[in-house]
Amino acid sequence: MIRARITGTGSYVPQKILTNFDLEKTLDTNDEWIKARTGISERHIAADDENTSDLATRAAERALEMAGVKAEDLDLIVVGTITGDYPWPATACIVQSNLGAVNAGAFDVSAACSGFLYALSTAVDRIEAGRSKKVLVIGAEILSRVVDWEDRNTCILFGDAAGAVVVEAQESEHGILSTHLHADGTHLKLLYQPGFGTKLVPNEESLKNKEYTLKMEGNEVFKVAVRSMADVAEIALKANDMSVEDVDLFIPHQANIRILKATAKRIGFKEDQVYVNVDRFGNTSGATIPLAMDEANRAGKLKEGDIVLLDAFGGGFTWASVLMRW
Ligand code: UT7
Repeated sequence: MIRARITGTGSYVPQKILTNFDLEKTLDTNDEWIKARTGISERHIAADDENTSDLATRAAERALEMAGVKAEDLDLIVVGTITGDYPWPATACIVQSNLGAVNAGAFDVSAACSGFLYALSTAVDRIEAGRSKKVLVIGAEILSRVVDWEDRNTCILFGDAAGAVVVEAQESEHGILSTHLHADGTHLKLLYQPGFGTKLVPNEESLKNKEYTLKMEGNEVFKVAVRSMADVAEIALKANDMSVEDVDLFIPHQANIRILKATAKRIGFKEDQVYVNVDRFGNTSGATIPLAMDEANRAGKLKEGDIVLLDAFGGGFTWASVLMRW
């Protein structure tokens, strides 16, 4: 059977680190509150001259190098992002040009924090259908440009990063075993960026009200996130006739340590099955999962044959899971 298998991972985070203590200087907040409520100690912030495509390109170069795949051999590039360089064209097209991936189609997927898993599932479908052989899938975000730095409820949570994987068609028992995607658009205003699309245009009032920044009802999102991530993880296990004990590493979207712990507990995972790096990077939306995968991979925590479960939840709402044999 032709399977989509990840053959290389890469990631990139900007150099500048913003700690909770840095935030204490400009906001009515403190390290103790942020750590206790979110588990976050620091996050990386892009330099003024860095764009999402730059982060994405650097992560992609590392993934291609590990896979031993040349950019010109790629037939598709999919970027999961909600903070692309431009409203359009797609950031994937900029990455395509940066890499010289002259034989690749390129497009973005907008599914907020689930964006990377939505993008990955697209790659899997193309590969299993025999229409693609080598696909680059990226999650890349510069959320620091769309948060309101005066809103302590949100700005403390987010960071900038990119992660990438090379996915190749292989006749193998290894690779991606299932993908599950879900959405519920009825709650969109619990987590969204009002401006600027076609609904709300930039004008004196919308600019004054900072409508171009991310808005979130944290408490409400929290509850739905835990329930949805647990549900979609269980759906993946059931679809593959597996139980929690079969999973070697659970890599959930890194939004908040309390969400991670509550989700893992609800599913029945032990602490050592769950990958956590939210303390060092915060919530980097579509980048959290590929960044965590690359860290785990380079640290030797992903071994051939391991069962790995990826799980995300984000604005939309969207939620998704991907289960694979490494
Ligand atoms: O990526 C997927 C989408 N995002 C998420 O999954 C995030 C989901 N939500 C969360 O992570 C949490 O809801 C937050 C971390 C955002 C907030 O934690 P919480 O335990 O839900 O706190 P809360 O909103 O109930 O706020 C508790 C108190 C409030 O004060 P009052 O009203 O009780 O007096 C807030 O004003 O904490 C206050 N507060 C802060 N205090 C110090 C809110 N932000 C801060 C802050 N520093 N940065």
